[in-house]
Amino acid sequence: MKKKYFSLEEIFTPSQPANYTFVERYSVNKRLKRALNTPGKQIIIYGYSGVGKTTLLTNKLKEEKLKSITTRCMSGMTLSDIVKDAFNQLEIYFIAQKDTTKGSKLGGTLSASYFGIKASLTGEQNEGDKSLAKRAVDLPITPQTLARFIGESSRCWILEDYHKVRSEDKFLLAQIMKVFMDSSIDYPKLKIIAIGAVNTAREVIQYDPEMKNRISEIEVPLMDKANLQEILDVGEKLLNIKIPDSISKKIIAYSSGLPAVTHQLGLLVCEANEVSNTVKTSLPKKLDVKSFDSALDEYLEDNSDTFKSIFETATKIVHKRKSENPSDILIAILMSNKDNVTVYDVKENLKIKDKSYKGNNIKKYLDELTTSDRAEILRFNKDYNSYYFSNPFIKAYCQCALRNNVQTEFNTSKLLSEFRETLNKELEIARKTFLEDYYD
Ligand SMILES: Nc1ncnc2c1ncn2[C@@H]1O[C@H](COP(=O)(O)OP(=O)(O)O)[C@@H](O)[C@H]1O
Ligand SMILES: [Mg+2]
Repeated sequence: MKKKYFSLEEIFTPSQPANYTFVERYSVNKRLKRALNTPGKQIIIYGYSGVGKTTLLTNKLKEEKLKSITTRCMSGMTLSDIVKDAFNQLEIYFIAQKDTTKGSKLGGTLSASYFGIKASLTGEQNEGDKSLAKRAVDLPITPQTLARFIGESSRCWILEDYHKVRSEDKFLLAQIMKVFMDSSIDYPKLKIIAIGAVNTAREVIQYDPEMKNRISEIEVPLMDKANLQEILDVGEKLLNIKIPDSISKKIIAYSSGLPAVTHQLGLLVCEANEVSNTVKTSLPKKLDVKSFDSALDEYLEDNSDTFKSIFETATKIVHKRKSENPSDILIAILMSNKDNVTVYDVKENLKIKDKSYKGNNIKKYLDELTTSDRAEILRFNKDYNSYYFSNPFIKAYCQCALRNNVQTEFNTSKLLSEFRETLNKELEIARKTFLEDYYD
């Protein structure tokens, strides 16, 4: 029987891959499916944080009935940490000479040598196992063995947050990808799927141009308004509620293309209306129009640390520059009072303060502010060659923080009320822009 009743958390899933509310990404679906089913094809999925990369992959793997292991890369992890993580997840404890009943997911010929590696990797062996562990160290862990072990387990290997791998190790990862390609003759399903930030794809290929044709680079774009609306529509249906138009338009406008925000606001607005499960009335429960304000308050409270850390990452000074520190650039953008600014706009504004300013590097620094190293505080619009703040929340936060010279803690009530005021203006702009586009 089809599931009829849902908890709120099953429907709006701000910190988990969407399942019931999953909407198809038609622009990338076909390519991803083809890449998944092409033996030897390695995959790089990239896009902004919160745009839906993990969700898309999770759903497609399920559809294609493909099994995987996932290694989450963290900054500072070395390649050997990453490889160890993969091995540890294969969870194969095969000790031919001790316990054959436990068995193994691997074939017999691999198992003996496999055990050795396992022992040396986990460091879990106790005193009694010393001799085995010692022998294990002699076994080299090569990309070939890694490919064989993952291949034998009929899985593909997902590397989440690939951009966090140290750059000196990315070269090695590119090499491992190559070995995985070659091993696909024996293991057709074997592949690496790297998920990362916007510039990830270029990086791998730059290390090894030969791989260009054997890697499928898939960009998951910002979600368009119709898709964001669909998340809310499905949510409404499954929870048996009616979200007033004015609320759903605001939610979509403020999401700035990120389903992550849609889910978060959707969840909060339901909470504000005390909807925690599918409503068991014959008619859908209509949510209160005014409840959005309290949902928004919750949202700000929940996220103030996030805004703060985005701002700090974006404005951190690594090498002091004259007139071109990130905060100088952000101030110059805000000065223009425009939603979208060009390189020229920013340059002109920087000249106001520094007459001798030439701005030869400004494009480079603006681009830097769109990368994950700078918390993706800006986005670049290819069609108009212009830059804009990634969302109205962070734009408002920047305005306040820069006005107050950043020294103060965000959570002091003065800054908070100022933030709300600034934010209201930004949200109004976002909402209007949205409506203009919507009725085009
Ligand atoms: N196709 C989709 N349909 C519905 N919700 C989605 C979709 N893609 C992502 N989401 C939601 O958006 C949020 C971010 O998705 P996630 O896959 O974690 O993004 P990323 O991996 O790009 O950072 C999650 O709350 C997820 O439930
Ligand atoms: Mg993700």
